[in-house]
Amino acid sequence: MAAGTQRMRRAIARTPFAPVAAFPFRFLRVARYDARVLRSSARWLVTSREHHNYTYDLTALNREHLAWFVSDVCAVPVAQARAWMAELEADEVLRHHIETTTAASARRGLADRHVRYARRAGWYAIVRARGPAHVVETGTDKGLGTCVIAAALLRNAAEGRPGRVTTVDLNPEAGYLTRAEPWAAVVDLVVGDSLAALAALTGPVDVFLHDSDHSSAHERREFTAVEPKLAEGALLLTDNVTKTDVLPRYADATGRRFLAFREQPARHWYPGDGIGAAWR
Ligand SMILES: C[S@@+](CC[C@H](N)C(=O)[O-])C[C@H]1O[C@@H](n2cnc3c(N)ncnc32)[C@H](O)[C@@H]1O
Repeated sequence: MAAGTQRMRRAIARTPFAPVAAFPFRFLRVARYDARVLRSSARWLVTSREHHNYTYDLTALNREHLAWFVSDVCAVPVAQARAWMAELEADEVLRHHIETTTAASARRGLADRHVRYARRAGWYAIVRARGPAHVVETGTDKGLGTCVIAAALLRNAAEGRPGRVTTVDLNPEAGYLTRAEPWAAVVDLVVGDSLAALAALTGPVDVFLHDSDHSSAHERREFTAVEPKLAEGALLLTDNVTKTDVLPRYADATGRRFLAFREQPARHWYPGDGIGAAWR
C-alpha cells in the first residue's frame, strides 16, 4: 500500500467518520460469511432428511484437533488416537449395517442413510484407549453413538479387554441400530428415564457419557446420580459442553481435570456440538 494512502487511513481512523468509511469493507466481510452459511443451509434443506441430532463430517483440521483431544484425555500417543479414528472410518461392516438398517427403519423418512460419525469418532477412540469394562450412555436416539461404542468394545474384546455398554432412552423406539449382531452382543438397551436407570445400576461404571435431556439441571443430576457408581479413575463425558458449564463446574467441585473439544462441521449450517471430558 502506498505511503500516502496509509497516512490517509491512519488519519481517518482517528476521526468519528472511521466507522462509516469502514462500513462497505465490513459489510462485504460478513456478507461473504453469511452467504456461505445460506448456501450450506439451502443444500441441507434439499439433500438431508434430518430434523434433530444432525449428522455431518468434521473438517480435516477439526479431526486432527479431536485426535489431540483424545490423546490428552487418555494419555495415549496422538498417532494411536488418529489410527483408532481411522479404524472406525474403515469399518465397512458397521457402515453397511447403519446404511441398510436406516433405509429399512420406520423412521427412514426422517433419517439420512449416509453415515457421518463426527465427534462420535472421539468416543470410539476414547473407548479403544481406555478399554472400559462398562460404558454408560444416557440418550440413545437411533443408536448411532451406541453402535460406535459397541464397535470399539468388540475390537477391545478381540484384544482381550472385553466390555459392555448400557444405553438408556425414554423413547421405546430408540436404539433400532443397536439390535443387530455382533453389536447387540455387548449392548444393554434400557427404556426409561436416565436418572432411574442410573440409580438401578449395579456394576461399576468406567466411562459415563451424558447425551440425554440437555437441560443444565438434568445434566447435573445425572453426574450426581452416577458418582457413587463410578469405578476408580472413571471418565465422565458430556455431549452438552458447548451449551452448559455443568461438567467443568462438576470437575472443579470434585477435584477432576477438565478438557473440551468443539466440533467444526464440514459443509453443514449447524455450528456443531462437542465433547467435554472430566477425569482424575
Ligand atoms: C441427542 S439424542 C441422543 C443421541 C445419541 N447418543 C447419538 O449418539 O446419536 C437425545 C436422546 O435422549 C433421550 N432423552 C431425553 N430425555 C431423557 C431422559 N430423561 N432419560 C432418558 N433419555 C432421555 C431422547 O429421547 C433422545 O433420543
